[in-house]
Amino acid sequence: MSNHANNKNNGVKQPLTLMIFGATGDLSHRKLLPALYHLMAEQQLPEQFTVLAIGRRQLDSAAFREQAGRSIAEHSRTGVNEQQLRQFLARLEYYRMEFISQPGSYEGFREHIEQIERGYTQSAIRLFFLAVAPEHFGIIVTHLSEQHLVERRNLSHRVMIEKPFGSDLASARVLNTTISEALDERQVYRIDHYLGKEMIRNILALRFGNSLFEPLWNHHYIDNIQITSAETLGVEGRGAYYEQAGILKDMMQNHLLQMLDLITMEPPADLMPESIRDEKVKALRALRRYEPAGACDGIALGQYGAGKVKGQAVPAYRDENEVDRHSLTPTYIALRTSVDNFRWGGVPIYIRAGKRLDKRRTQIVVEFKRLPGINFYQEFKQQPPNLLVLEVQPNEGMYFQINAKRPGNDFAIDQVEMNYAQSSRFQGNVPEAYEQLILEAYRANSSLFTRWDELEQSWLFVESVEQMCRMAGDDYPNYPAGSRGPEQADRMLQGDGRIWREIDLPPNPNARQEREEAE
Ligand code: BG6
Repeated sequence: MSNHANNKNNGVKQPLTLMIFGATGDLSHRKLLPALYHLMAEQQLPEQFTVLAIGRRQLDSAAFREQAGRSIAEHSRTGVNEQQLRQFLARLEYYRMEFISQPGSYEGFREHIEQIERGYTQSAIRLFFLAVAPEHFGIIVTHLSEQHLVERRNLSHRVMIEKPFGSDLASARVLNTTISEALDERQVYRIDHYLGKEMIRNILALRFGNSLFEPLWNHHYIDNIQITSAETLGVEGRGAYYEQAGILKDMMQNHLLQMLDLITMEPPADLMPESIRDEKVKALRALRRYEPAGACDGIALGQYGAGKVKGQAVPAYRDENEVDRHSLTPTYIALRTSVDNFRWGGVPIYIRAGKRLDKRRTQIVVEFKRLPGINFYQEFKQQPPNLLVLEVQPNEGMYFQINAKRPGNDFAIDQVEMNYAQSSRFQGNVPEAYEQLILEAYRANSSLFTRWDELEQSWLFVESVEQMCRMAGDDYPNYPAGSRGPEQADRMLQGDGRIWREIDLPPNPNARQEREEAE
């Protein structure tokens, strides 16, 4: 994905004014401020930059800087350098305003920004990051536009919008209409933080940077693809949100479909953001929709009951705060789908995600077809198939399972692994997703963000699942916390003559894994 617009003028990076709405919140403290600190420390930001933290709380800049310093020290991926931290905090200001209830406050805000930008030697990139409740996205963009803080078609004015973008297809369309009255699509950076994860960015490099894979990447050689996102976490105090979203909208509609897209898309004509996004939309359009009258076939849903996760007793989903005691919201999903085009016709794609499972693991497994049972190979036809495993987390790496002769006098075949653990090779160098996302938005590389037509297709798919499985939930809770999930998910694959591939990558010595696990 090329950095086609690197905002350089005469070799000097264009100044940046970055504004975080909702700066006192969790996302800002845990992810955004540490990400910005690292970007500065690694000299990725321009010489001239200002971070304006916008919130409704009564705070001054000094107090906010103190809080920010603590958060950065706590959540930084490498620990902090005191001098660099001071440098960063000197660029950070707190700006208090009632950004929802007092549209009038935007006027003073605009004057403040203009004053900051007058201090730069050239015009700035304005990046607004909306880390607020989703119901506020539309209203903030409208206010920004009315006060000319963003001008339509001015590509230096960009807005980054967190998920969820809408709570269903209809509300996503309404929100998009509001936003597109104020902004051109090229100014909108809809976040899916999975697109900022190293191994997910690596999918394109792996697929299109090696002569080995592309010729095999189709229904002739691939038996099935499995995409798993398992979490040990529960709903973490977000019961009210989760009741509306469930696993389908919280994980499937965005993160899992993004992974599926990158794995199944056709090669783009070049690595420009729009070329990549064009191919992603095509793959999503070919994704098989479920029939509304179907019998929830090929889909296993679940909800966790009480159990133990990593030795700790945890409550059932229905006993979490702000969750209905009879809730039918799924916290687990496994489904079988396919991308109905010439490349993938007939290849099942299994996707599953769940909360409160036994392990945290995000993994993509490409299972190649077995050997034909002929001639010399006959006695070996029971050998396990070749597997290509991309592990997104907690490790970051790749693993290729092949069969080779076991050393010794006898001719026996054994399974061996070719393993590449990214973090042990490039120690300390792996940026967090939000670093990459902010940097790429500054560089105008929109390939790491979701375009409206992609989003619309993903909602169409998710709604087809929802309509078909409306009646599910009689058996909830149907898996205990800390387990592998509901048995129906295993039965679904058994029925297809397959199993879920759960690959434990050989341990790697890097600390990044432990830190992520602890989060
Ligand atoms: C978020 C979901 O988008 O992704 C959370 O809202 C989920 O429910 C999280 O826990 C998972 O992200 P990660 O990066 O920890 O895999």
